[in-house]
Parts: sequence; structure tokens; C-alpha cells
Amino acid sequence: MKIDVISIFPEYLSPLQLSLLGKAQSSGIVEITVHDLRKHTNDNHNTVDDTPYGGGAGMVMLPEVWGRALDPLMQPETDLIVLTPAGKRFNQKMAESYSKSSHLIFACGRYEGIDDRVRQHYSTNEYQSRDIRVHEVSIGDYVLGGGEVAAMVMIEAITRLIPGVLGNPESLTEESHNDEGYLEYPNFTKPQEWRGIPVPEILLSGNHREIAKWRRQQADKRAKDNL
Ligand code: ADE
Repeated sequence: MKIDVISIFPEYLSPLQLSLLGKAQSSGIVEITVHDLRKHTNDNHNTVDDTPYGGGAGMVMLPEVWGRALDPLMQPETDLIVLTPAGKRFNQKMAESYSKSSHLIFACGRYEGIDDRVRQHYSTNEYQSRDIRVHEVSIGDYVLGGGEVAAMVMIEAITRLIPGVLGNPESLTEESHNDEGYLEYPNFTKPQEWRGIPVPEILLSGNHREIAKWRRQQADKRAKDNL
């Protein structure tokens, strides 16, 4: 999978080189390139934003700059993800769907976001016919300073679902959010007792049917408690 990230703070995305994602890049499963939006400005001040038409607080990111950054990255079968608190709320199902994409572009907006014509332009028939799709996505109902952290959250959730990225793919089978509303059961390891708290007896019983039943009950209880 090829991933391009566009931001005015490319250094913000340096954690993408670490851990599992770093390994996935060394082994060639994932190729991540971070692009500096300011390289696509053409004035002395490297301006990326201006005041909004119609008035109001904040600044809006310039469509020309985004267009120059995005055009060379567009190839057939691209999912362009525009990070915005006004987007569709990201979930595990979307992570699974994006994990099958061959090319993701993350557009990290700052300020009051990107001029809407960028979304409109790359959503036209011309792009749709080349299998280029635009998605406005939010990672949750709160406002971040910009899309960078949101892009990292999405990239981590998406790439760990690509075959070969996780050391043990079985870890994917019984985890939270695999089924709508499913939360994983609580886990325990050694020692058998820690600070006076014992591991639940049933987990030491060796009775796999009863263990599975207990885990299902615990998962249900968690889901209810979180409502
Ligand atoms: N940019 C600012 N807040 C955001 C959010 N919640 N999700 C995605 N991008 C954002």
C-alpha cells in the first residue's frame, strides 16, 4: 500500500517511522511519504491560508496550494482522505475497508480547514472515472489543532490490518470492534496474584468452553457499562 500525507508540519508525522509501521516500511508492505504543503506555495511568505469569504473567525487553507500538492500524487485507484472534525466518524469497519486500498492520501488541514472547492474538484466525474474517491473523515467528536494526529490514528488502525504487518495475525481475530459494538474481554497474565488481586479462577481451569463463555459474558458487560 502506498500512503502520502500532506501537512504544513511534516515533522509532526515522524512517529510513523517507529515500531510496527517502521518495520512494515522496511519490508516494503507499506510505503509512506510525507509531503510539506509549503513547498507548493509561490509567494515569499509561503502563504497557505487566507480569510474566509462571508466573514467569520479563523483562516481557510488556499485551494491553489492544495491543488498543486495533490495533482502530482493522483493516480488511478486513490482514496483521498480529508481530515476534518466535520467528516464521517472513523470506525473499525472503515479501517478494514481502507486497508484494502492500494493508495491513500491524507490531507491534513489546519485552521478552519481547506477551501471546500478542493473536495468538490477531486469529486468530479473526471476523477471518479479514474477510481479516485474523496472522503471527509473525523476521528471523533472533538476538535484537534489539525489533521496530523488524526492521520496518524487512521494510518495505525488501517495498516495493522494489512496482511504481514502484525507479527501474529491471530491477535486480530478476537479484538474489540471486530463486530459492531463488540469489546474485548479483560486479559490477565502472570503473576497469578498481584497486589492481592487474583486472576479469575475460571481462567486457570483449563475448561476452554467455560472460559469462552466467561469471556463472552465479560465482553457483553463491558459493552453495557460503556453505554
Ligand atoms: N481536525 C481537527 N479535528 C479533527 C478531528 N476530530 N478529526 C479529524 N481531523 C480533525
